[in-house]
Amino acid sequence: MIRLKHFTLGCLLVLSANTFAQKKQVDLYALIHKMSVEEKAGEMTQLDLGVIANGEICNLTQPQSINQEKLSKAIQKYHIGSFLNVGCGSGTISRSNWSVIFSSIQKETQKTRLQIPIVYGIDAIHGNNYTMGATLFPQQIAQAATWNPTLVKQGYEVTAYEARASGIPWNFSPVLDLGRQPLWSRFFETFGEDVLLANKMTVAAISGLQGDNKYSPYHVAACMKHFLGYSMPLSGKDRTPIWMSEREMREYYLPTFQTAIQQGAKTIMINSAEINGTPVHANYDILTTLLRNELGFKGVAVTDWEDIYKLVDMHRVAANKKEAVYQAIMAGIDMSMTPNDYQFTELLIELINEGRIPMSRVDSSVYRILNLKYELGLFDGLDTKTTYPLFGSEVHAAKSLAVANECITLLKNENQTLPILHKNEKIFICGPGANSLNYLNGAWTHTWQGVDTNFNTKNKLTTLAAIQQYAGKENVSYALGSSIDVADDYAKCIVKAKNADKIIICLAETPSTEIPGNIDNLYLPKAQEDLVIALSKLNKPIIVVCTFNRPRILKNIIPFADAILYAYLPGDEGGKAIASVIYGETNPSGKLPFSYPSDANNILHYDHKHAEDMHTDFSNNGYRPAFDFGFGLSYSNFVYSGFAISKNTLGSNDSITVNVQVKNNSNVAGKEVVQLYYADLVASITPSVKKLLAFEKIYLRAGEQKNIQFQIHKKDLSFINKQLKRVTEAGEFDLMIQNETKRIYVN
Ligand code: BGC
Repeated sequence: MIRLKHFTLGCLLVLSANTFAQKKQVDLYALIHKMSVEEKAGEMTQLDLGVIANGEICNLTQPQSINQEKLSKAIQKYHIGSFLNVGCGSGTISRSNWSVIFSSIQKETQKTRLQIPIVYGIDAIHGNNYTMGATLFPQQIAQAATWNPTLVKQGYEVTAYEARASGIPWNFSPVLDLGRQPLWSRFFETFGEDVLLANKMTVAAISGLQGDNKYSPYHVAACMKHFLGYSMPLSGKDRTPIWMSEREMREYYLPTFQTAIQQGAKTIMINSAEINGTPVHANYDILTTLLRNELGFKGVAVTDWEDIYKLVDMHRVAANKKEAVYQAIMAGIDMSMTPNDYQFTELLIELINEGRIPMSRVDSSVYRILNLKYELGLFDGLDTKTTYPLFGSEVHAAKSLAVANECITLLKNENQTLPILHKNEKIFICGPGANSLNYLNGAWTHTWQGVDTNFNTKNKLTTLAAIQQYAGKENVSYALGSSIDVADDYAKCIVKAKNADKIIICLAETPSTEIPGNIDNLYLPKAQEDLVIALSKLNKPIIVVCTFNRPRILKNIIPFADAILYAYLPGDEGGKAIASVIYGETNPSGKLPFSYPSDANNILHYDHKHAEDMHTDFSNNGYRPAFDFGFGLSYSNFVYSGFAISKNTLGSNDSITVNVQVKNNSNVAGKEVVQLYYADLVASITPSVKKLLAFEKIYLRAGEQKNIQFQIHKKDLSFINKQLKRVTEAGEFDLMIQNETKRIYVN
């Protein structure tokens, strides 16, 4: 069968002329027919840059450069199909260096018999963070807190553009795992705990990265991570077992992946952990029956880091690496992020030659990989003509700042402590987060764990520097006060703070992700709590700013803080955004995309079950978060009225129109997120107390009123039943906006 594909060129940005050469047509089936077993096994292998660069595998000589001998071994001897990253995440590369790296690789692939291009993948997690000078955005949890998918999509467009500007066509992003386990080290990489909100953000991310799914030199392939259920380890520790019923999995953890697949997401990365005793990398039911047969995913399934080998030494379901390769490939893996040696490739060749892995199985994976390369335009060679004038520009920084401004969530504001209206007020600022760019950015910032300050973007403002810009250096004094977990000199702070009108304390968490980010205690380290308590003795207004990887427990300091700004991990523009909220230039409009736990062992979600509402005194207030999902204060005062529904019965081909008026009853313009919730009163599966049904973020000038309308269909009220089918059962439902409820009947 001949498969000819023709793509017309898409140029989404008008900035540079469409100079990219006409796409070559490639007959992928004919190409596969020509490939040897060795070439096919190599095609299915992905190696880290460390294997072909100068230096040690995870400790490359800086700046990173290709080692010709190693490269030639990878391409000529092993026919490697893909490379990734920067040497175990060990440091950012300049655009000019990326270009040298890619042309060396291309020269090498052109010397091969079939001249198949490689596909390079990168973790561009919050902006294209492995290229020097790239625009760094707030992390995913912060993006979700904007409740503004349009803004979030623009961020992903910038990330795609800047990745392509560095020659990289494939991004291992977004993370679609739901953030329902706050202890988990990768909580900040999620879009939060709610399915609907995460779904909207998923659409924004995939469409931002991939554009309209046609070839474009400004877009990249997205990678849905990490299929499936990765974010819900029972222990809260990364890559540890998930124990979950299939019903729950389908209800909460599958929908974002389904949405992304419908959106055309081109690749998927697999969960490193096990579910109910079976590692996902060896699970045919998940990787083939569900992913391919049921969800219809046609793209590339890549393993996570070393995960085939981990079937032997971590999960112990395979006695040796050969068995592990067999299990993973037969389960449905297309590409192995091996990524530091050639054992996978060699073992796969053996298994194919022995006939244990059928050629048809291999060919379908090779086809998917070649097709990805084709769709990304890689057979046309390196694009040296398209220019990227906006890389790392002020225009892109402004987009990052817009997301940062809209994510910041005002959790407490007693006596209108914020905003600070007089710029000449004396400020004392302290805390581990005050003067650190890394703590604003979190992990995946120039390096894997994001703690190496050597690679930081030049000329970006920490919170301290940004506050100094607003208030004037003469009005701002600073002392560290505390590192993340060791008290510095509280006495020095007290002396300096005595002369201040207001105190800003920037609490933080050391950037970290994956296993290095595991913690045993969700509480804020005591040194930081004590700093707040010590300064509170001065009886001056205290403004607490939080930049955490996950919601660290604030219980011991909430009473001492007059204002609390939760800034998530707001990225390189985060300092500016925090200062602009503090000085009232930005009216905060972020809303929590998760339920903020009040205590380390009081972790419930807003969409909890009625049984979880049971308190010790048998009253219905068992759900006692420190701050509720969807919560966030504003400097404006929004007043809701006129909540009305068009009718109170809903059938299958029907819809109900919901109207509500929101008025900005203040003299400051602001943005509000109008949130509509519902409750299924009786159902065959215990219903949640409430669930988010729809939302819209609106802008209201001072005194302005707007009417917001939502259209509700029967399918919007569905859930997964005992037979694992999505259904809406007939019966009574409540629709809720703020504290008002309307009862409807669904038939
Ligand atoms: C992470 C992935 C990441 C990959 C490549 C893994 O350890 O779990 O999210 O994409 O490394 O760096």
